[in-house]
Amino acid sequence: MAQSDIREQVDLIREVFAYADQFRGGTFVIKISNQIVDHPDFPQHARDLALLHKSGIRIVIVPGARKRIDEVLDRFGADKRFKDDIRISSGEDMDLIKMAAFDVAHRVMTALSGHKITAVIGNWVRARSRGVINGVDFERTGSVDRVRVEALTRSLEQGHVPIFPCIGHNESGDPFNLSSDELAGTVAVALNARKLFILSTEDVMYTPEWEVPENVEVLDDGRIFRMVPDAAEEIVKLNPDKPGRFLLRTAAAACRAGIDRAHILDGRQGGVLLKEIFSNLGVGTMVFADAYERIRPMESSDVPGILDIMRPLIAEGILVERTREELERKQNDYWVYDMDGVVHGCAALHPFGESSAEIAGMAVDARYAQLGIGAKLLDLLNEKAVEDGISRLFVLTTRTADWFLARGFRDGSLSDLPAERREEYNEERNSRVLVKNLDSN
Ligand SMILES: CC(C)(COP(=O)(O)OP(=O)(O)OC[C@H]1O[C@@H](n2cnc3c(N)ncnc32)[C@H](O)[C@@H]1OP(=O)(O)O)[C@@H](O)C(=O)NCCC(=O)NCCS
Repeated sequence: MAQSDIREQVDLIREVFAYADQFRGGTFVIKISNQIVDHPDFPQHARDLALLHKSGIRIVIVPGARKRIDEVLDRFGADKRFKDDIRISSGEDMDLIKMAAFDVAHRVMTALSGHKITAVIGNWVRARSRGVINGVDFERTGSVDRVRVEALTRSLEQGHVPIFPCIGHNESGDPFNLSSDELAGTVAVALNARKLFILSTEDVMYTPEWEVPENVEVLDDGRIFRMVPDAAEEIVKLNPDKPGRFLLRTAAAACRAGIDRAHILDGRQGGVLLKEIFSNLGVGTMVFADAYERIRPMESSDVPGILDIMRPLIAEGILVERTREELERKQNDYWVYDMDGVVHGCAALHPFGESSAEIAGMAVDARYAQLGIGAKLLDLLNEKAVEDGISRLFVLTTRTADWFLARGFRDGSLSDLPAERREEYNEERNSRVLVKNLDSN
């Protein structure tokens, strides 16, 4: 295997360990659409769910049952009625609806049992009638009244995987048909889950098929990567013809209610759950509520990862060689970009005297290039320099001049460098000197 392949694999394994450690003991709620449970690849999802469970993540599953309910109602010649995509469930149909909902839940349980997982189907929600909305009586379609968190937590502590059929009962024991999306979101919030996953049969969201506002992060290949709940609501409005917009609405509602991250995945692709969980860029679309990324001072434990990012750039002559000792010695000057606990970039601000500072050691992991990480690091160094009373920034670069010139730097000369730095200037390297006066910002 080529050295670069080995390094890539090692990077991937590191990423997996970093995430596995972070999520152990946390709860993931997974809403699986009915079509995915019926899909030929479902056994693969069941295996991945079992792996997650065995790695110490608490798994809760909410299977949708819409397709199965439709099939059963059709078979018995019962009407199917909807208002705003919500089923109106009549009292007479409830036995059929229960049968369909429990059938899907049983299929999920059976698939997990094949992996020696004790999955349990339970009644952990109290329901109430949805009532009459704008003159429409939803009859036996209900809403989640409350989640019986204690009983559910006990089940999780015993190492079980709870499965929620979309049926809840009110205080008098009458059954109600619940929306599995709402159920999954409410259960995730009640359990203070780390993540909500929605495995659907909708295509992954890409631009330009989907129209998106500016504050949504889109990857180079057009995949709609991540956004905050307000932006998700905007996408819903901008794309009124896309059925997938309902998934965004569910994800946004869950994040507004307190879930950190809700991930929308195309469940027709095998392995999507693991890919989404254990890699930073994932494979789906994410709505997030908290600060997902941060720039923080470098810690000594970051040094090996930073050297990994710098190594190929040093090999290409883009960056000057740096050793572990050197990075540790200058630790206070370095800042790192941290996404979910994994470092993807760094930059240093080395002060020279009281009024000038050098920007150096700026490096972004090539796999995360062009996501604005470099710009964020540079903005932060600018801010720090202003705070420290620095009036002039300079940078020495061989290949990245354009990038700095586009960000407020201008061409300078050796005479712009502090004397101490000028003495160290490497004639052979012949770097360009770029400067930026902070006063004139
Ligand atoms: C330069 C660097 C830090 C940019 O980081 P990044 O997170 O990929 O960049 P951003 O996402 O903030 O910016 C992307 C933009 O910069 C442009 N860009 C990236 N590298 C560039 C370069 N070497 N020269 C000119 N422009 C460049 C991209 O084309 C993109 O342009 P667009 O916004 O018009 O699409 C990164 O490419 C890197 O680590 N380079 C190697 C190390 C280096 O040169 N360090 C600087 C010397 S200290």
